[in-house]
Amino acid sequence: MKNEIRFASIKAICLIWCFMGLIEGNQANDFDVKKYGAKADGKSDDNKAIENAWKEAGMSRKESRAPADPAKFKSQDSWIVFNNVNGLTVEGGTFDGQGAIAWSKNDCAKTGTCDSLPINLAFNKLTNSVIRSITSLNSKLFHMNILNCKNVTFQRTTINAPEISLNTDGIHIGRSTGVNITDADIKTGDDCVSLGDGCQQVNIEKVTCGPGHGISIGSLGKYQNEQPVEGITVRNCTITNTMNGIRVKTWPASTVGVARSLSFDNIVMNNVSTPILIDQQYCPYGQCKAEVPSRVKISDVSFNAIKGTSATQLAVKLFCSRGIPCENVALNDINLVYHGINGTAISECANVKPKLTGNLFPPVCAVSSH
Ligand SMILES: *[C@@H]1O[C@H](CO)[C@@H](O)[C@H](O)[C@H]1NC(C)=O
Ligand SMILES: *[C@@H]1O[C@H](CO)[C@@H](O)[C@H](O)[C@H]1NC(C)=O
Ligand SMILES: *[C@@H]1O[C@H](CO)[C@@H](O)[C@H](O)[C@H]1NC(C)=O
Ligand SMILES: *[C@@H]1O[C@H](CO)[C@@H](O)[C@H](O)[C@H]1NC(C)=O
Ligand SMILES: *[C@@H]1O[C@H](CO)[C@@H](O)[C@H](O)[C@H]1NC(C)=O
Repeated sequence: MKNEIRFASIKAICLIWCFMGLIEGNQANDFDVKKYGAKADGKSDDNKAIENAWKEAGMSRKESRAPADPAKFKSQDSWIVFNNVNGLTVEGGTFDGQGAIAWSKNDCAKTGTCDSLPINLAFNKLTNSVIRSITSLNSKLFHMNILNCKNVTFQRTTINAPEISLNTDGIHIGRSTGVNITDADIKTGDDCVSLGDGCQQVNIEKVTCGPGHGISIGSLGKYQNEQPVEGITVRNCTITNTMNGIRVKTWPASTVGVARSLSFDNIVMNNVSTPILIDQQYCPYGQCKAEVPSRVKISDVSFNAIKGTSATQLAVKLFCSRGIPCENVALNDINLVYHGINGTAISECANVKPKLTGNLFPPVCAVSSH
């Protein structure tokens, strides 16, 4: 049943669903399932109406393509939106965002405003749902944005965009509980998976990542009233030729925030520039007061069985906030090798006193700087 969207589980409760026009050259259109007979009252079986709307929009085709010109989207729109559905099952489908023109127009490094292009697939307010075997290609901005979801599993996701594509995070998750990403293969220009504020009980396993910027928690601390991030597990992943491996990033001069109970377990790094990174001075476009410490509190973080090669000498960098040092950070069985002209792999630490067990290479926080 590949390349087909099925709605196996019935009773889409409280359903409002729309998606943008899909056919190359057309102005993007809104499709609202209510126009196809859906009652969206939380009681009726609306799956037939959803299927009809979906077919009408061209989604039964093997590969759906977005309009290439970003001007055909109202700014901040997403191409395809799943909104407010309980018990949804999506199976198969390839979604090509045709992002090349959009990447060339992306000026976010200059302006600091990075959300004015459409996301390929937005999943808002889904509960108890399964999204299986979907492919996102060449998104203009993030490939997939998972927001305000609860108990949703993404199995066998494939994401592909070139390394040079800007801000094309693979899967971004925010303000969601119980999201489970398994067996994903992600090649893209930004973070393979990124977790924003309010992520709780998120499990990421068997993900291959690269090229890209690795798997990230954050960035945190940019906005007011950010919700805590907690209960995050990243395990059995392979990360190859990326800028970072696993990373926690928070802004300096930040708002108050919390990231705790984060576990990174059994991860293979192949030629990753900074395999293990806590960066509480994250300031990608140089537009922050780097000297003011972050107010995001990071605690209960464990790195276990992280092995492979580092593309730079600095394999482990734990830079915590001077204002609120990291608490209860533990590293066990780390083996990250650097094959370069500069010597062997090293670590650098600030404002953290990690608990160290097992075999550790490089030696971690042997000399504390800052
Ligand atoms: C989570 O969602 C799945 C898939 O719809 C469902 O089978 C399961 O019962 C849900 N779990 C909870 C705790 O609601
Ligand atoms: C995530 O989903 C996979 C595949 O369905 C399952 O084996 C695993 O137990 C789930 N993990 C969690 C934490 O829900
Ligand atoms: C993760 O890998 C370990 C070691 O290879 C294995 O024992 C464990 O079953 C794997 N866990 C999952 C959830 O795949
Ligand atoms: C290692 O990574 C660097 C920088 O990302 C890249 O230029 C280089 O081609 C990679 N090496 C291999 C052997 O893939
Ligand atoms: C090697 O060291 C030099 C001088 O410190 C530095 O500029 C360069 O970035 C290092 N190269 C790598 C791959 O770490």
